[in-house]
Amino acid sequence: MEYKIAEHIAAMKPSAIREIFKVLVDPEVIALSAGAPDPSSYPEEEMAKLSAEIFAEDADTAFKYGMTEGYQPLRDLTKKRMQEKYSTGTDADDLIITTGGQQTISLLTQTMINKGDTIVCEGPSFIGALNAFRSFGANLKSVPMDEEGMRIDELEKVLASSENVKFIYVIPTFQNPTGRTMSLERRRQLLELAKKYDVLILEDNPYFELRYEGEPVPTIKSMDTEGRVVYAGSYSKVMSPGMRIGYCIANPKIINRMVVCKQVSDVHTNQFFQMVVARYLQTYDIDKHIEEECKLNKIKRDAMLKACETYFDKRVTFTHPEGGLFIWCELPEGCDSLELCRRITEKKVACVPGSAFSVDEDAVSNGFRMNFSMPTLEQIDIACSRIGEAIREFLD
Ligand SMILES: Cc1ncc(COP(=O)(O)O)c(C=O)c1O
Repeated sequence: MEYKIAEHIAAMKPSAIREIFKVLVDPEVIALSAGAPDPSSYPEEEMAKLSAEIFAEDADTAFKYGMTEGYQPLRDLTKKRMQEKYSTGTDADDLIITTGGQQTISLLTQTMINKGDTIVCEGPSFIGALNAFRSFGANLKSVPMDEEGMRIDELEKVLASSENVKFIYVIPTFQNPTGRTMSLERRRQLLELAKKYDVLILEDNPYFELRYEGEPVPTIKSMDTEGRVVYAGSYSKVMSPGMRIGYCIANPKIINRMVVCKQVSDVHTNQFFQMVVARYLQTYDIDKHIEEECKLNKIKRDAMLKACETYFDKRVTFTHPEGGLFIWCELPEGCDSLELCRRITEKKVACVPGSAFSVDEDAVSNGFRMNFSMPTLEQIDIACSRIGEAIREFLD
């Protein structure tokens, strides 16, 4: 039969990078393409102990349906931690547990976007968010970034010339894919501009606790006095992504609508893993755990930066992120990183070409992203030397 797929879903193109990712089934390929913590940092022993306790003491709760808003102890513990440690969220805000930070992105989009409404994002930006926006028929506009994050002068031009802008999507800390952090001044200016044009901000902040150097920058949500910022948090990057535990902090008027959307999406986030995370927060010191993860990541970041310096042609630039999981490289202006990444896969290394993170997927990007948390130190060195070789062959 002829399947009458919804127009905005039919318009979504299979991505060119899928071809590149096909190589990942080959165990010899070194993947710099992921965005997850080092598996050796997962708190496996603690989780095994807590899981056994849950099944022995409270199996009923784990097996029953739960509340759409989330498991109450986890909601309370997360709200308290974010409020007390990061001044993020107030008593006037509500917090729901989501199935990863990804679900906050899709629930907010579902809640706010009529087909054709505009979402403004950083250029480049997180592919999972861009695809979520596309799947709801949003019109995407991107704003270029510099060292301090989204450029405010360019943002104002976009806001002034666009209709029905519903929200501005930013990943202010250790951005995916660039690893850059938006400065405090920019955060203030962003909030001011959002006020001026009366739009929401979606602050997606899954990496902010993975800081290896420099001073922490307050969340945009911590400066929000009028419920203008919707905050997406996640336990994926500081504990483990497979648990699928995220959270959203926002004004109850928005949260209530997102809850209706969540009800028809997955009813509630996996109850068992919500309980495990809640018990973890009650029993162990998550800050200590994050500190250990940061130590591990810093060693790998430093190793990758050193390898970039050693093996990469001087015409290639790369970011020096103070945290997070990614280094962003740029070839000279006009070069196509998609072609370079294809050649890199032939050398059994996978990294992600910049076009994957572009609002216009057909536009040529000279950037590509490398992850340093998943590979071993030895793999980092081998991968970068192969990438360096591919760059030389590509540029010469
Ligand atoms: C910027 C950003 N936001 C959100 C997510 C979603 O993470 P999760 O759904 O695992 O919390 C990711 C994952 O890579 C990400 O990079």
